[in-house]
Amino acid sequence: MNMHQFEVLVVGAGGAGLMAALYASRNAHTAVLSKLYPTRSHTGTAQGGVGAALGNIEEDHPEWHTYDSVKGSDYLGDQDAIEFMCSEAVDAVYELEHMGLPFSRTPDGRIAQRPFGGHTNNRTGKPVRRACYAADRTGHMILQTLYQQCIKNRVNFFDEFHVIDLLVNEGVAVGVVALELATGELHVFHGKAIIFATGGHGRIFDITSNAYAYTGDGVAITLRKGIPAEDMEFFQFHPTGIFKLGILITEGVRGEGGVLINGKGERFMGKYAPTVKDLASRDVISRAMHIEMQEGRDIDGKRYLHLDVRPETVNKYAAEDDRTNPDGTPYQVTGEEILKKLPDIIDFCRTYLGVDPVTQPMPVQPTAHYAMGGIPTNKFGEVVIDENNTVMPGLYAAGECACVSVHGANRLGTNSLLDLIVFGKHAGIKAAEYANQVKFVPLPEDATGFSRQQLDAILNSSGSERIADIASEMKTVMNDYVGVFRTEDGMKRALEVVRQLKGRFKNVRVDDHGKIYNTDLLNAWELSNLLDLAEITATCALERKESRGAHARDDYPKRDDNNWLKHSLAWTRNGDVEIRYKPVVITKFQPKERVY
Ligand code: FUM
Repeated sequence: MNMHQFEVLVVGAGGAGLMAALYASRNAHTAVLSKLYPTRSHTGTAQGGVGAALGNIEEDHPEWHTYDSVKGSDYLGDQDAIEFMCSEAVDAVYELEHMGLPFSRTPDGRIAQRPFGGHTNNRTGKPVRRACYAADRTGHMILQTLYQQCIKNRVNFFDEFHVIDLLVNEGVAVGVVALELATGELHVFHGKAIIFATGGHGRIFDITSNAYAYTGDGVAITLRKGIPAEDMEFFQFHPTGIFKLGILITEGVRGEGGVLINGKGERFMGKYAPTVKDLASRDVISRAMHIEMQEGRDIDGKRYLHLDVRPETVNKYAAEDDRTNPDGTPYQVTGEEILKKLPDIIDFCRTYLGVDPVTQPMPVQPTAHYAMGGIPTNKFGEVVIDENNTVMPGLYAAGECACVSVHGANRLGTNSLLDLIVFGKHAGIKAAEYANQVKFVPLPEDATGFSRQQLDAILNSSGSERIADIASEMKTVMNDYVGVFRTEDGMKRALEVVRQLKGRFKNVRVDDHGKIYNTDLLNAWELSNLLDLAEITATCALERKESRGAHARDDYPKRDDNNWLKHSLAWTRNGDVEIRYKPVVITKFQPKERVY
């Protein structure tokens, strides 16, 4: 048996995992297990910025950031946790700067900041420059910087070790089981504290900005161990994915003055969000785009709209909006400036579409982007397992796989990078603190038993179902029926199909029965995770009889605070989904109607 022992085990090497590992490793013997080579983690695709009220360019305050995030969450976010995140944000960004992160700069050398959706000057309601950015490669830079710091701090890395089970002994998390890709061997990792930082599950949808690796492993593994998932009905669609491909075109484009244009050549967002227009929150813009397309104002009858950042367009609408530079002069851009600030998205469009955004508008559609729901935690990353927020000893979660909840029903852009550095850090600190106080709890008997059972069920199946067919049907129904707009019939249909697919999955056949780099086997196992999470998402969505944030229903079009100002907690029990609810933490801001 391949046995390893570390005080703190971190599963996942994106921003949250690396931040957690960095902090844990300062006080405890720490290892990171990642199914990817760390710098290939999905954090690397985050583009436009990390939110922090530095006030480098204009007046801003953590209190404004807090209010905007509460409002953006459609009042479902826990306000104590949001306030904690926004007040930690400023130091967190300076810490990254001091680690060497190459932020873009203002002319006088400070960290550059740009406007982003839903972030406002709370006095005027107008957009505020709060997103701290490194061109349109902010996530990439965070990932590289944190990885270097972890190497410097002698964190132990197990790259291409795919975690497939959490080990629990009498209610205490005691380790994980991982399959080593290179050998196909199972390894048992014994730990005192285990931090899950496994990312999201956007691959349940057809059109998504998410990496292939975003298959919800952490949430699916913990569900199998009787741990609930929180607020799974809330999944964010980012307004601007490349048409058909879903690849992210950063909101930073609109931060730099880009606008959305419909098939009649109209800039339509003023109708839906008169004050902030193209910089409203993502749920509002994705719905507006859906309505424009539904009512026939798409481009040439195809399901896309234009995102236009050509200098002449930016300058025209900046003048119309009275947009100014910090010194009060009119805001105007040149092609060279656009190229310098948005190099990656310009490259993507040139490569994948043959479209040059400096001279042509980009065809875009909403793309599944971010899971607001996940493994329930408190603000220290400790996993909580019921309505009373009972902490599970030894288990922590941070980043997109976790639900603190700071994003509620809709996350503001830039708050995901912030979430992972703030809560990754605190999960790392808490886990190391805990590890220093306790002894190793013994592993359960037959530690690899459940892992072998799961993998053997796939390897020994003599069925004829194909992974790609099941995945494609799941993604299509989830996109069509549990997407930007939802109807009762549609969600029921999606649920029915997903349940049938779960049945068919039992007969899935893989072609590769070898041990070395058997990605066929692991893709099948990942699909089982996606099916579980698709079922929970559709079930929770069907149950929530209101519209809030990213959850928009035609039969319950209004938010209903009397009945639904509460978080869902979903368990899988005996092949079924059980849902219970817990209250939202309200401190300073009583819910009111959101107007942008
Ligand atoms: O639009 C973007 O650059 C995405 C940022 C985010 O999801 O926070």
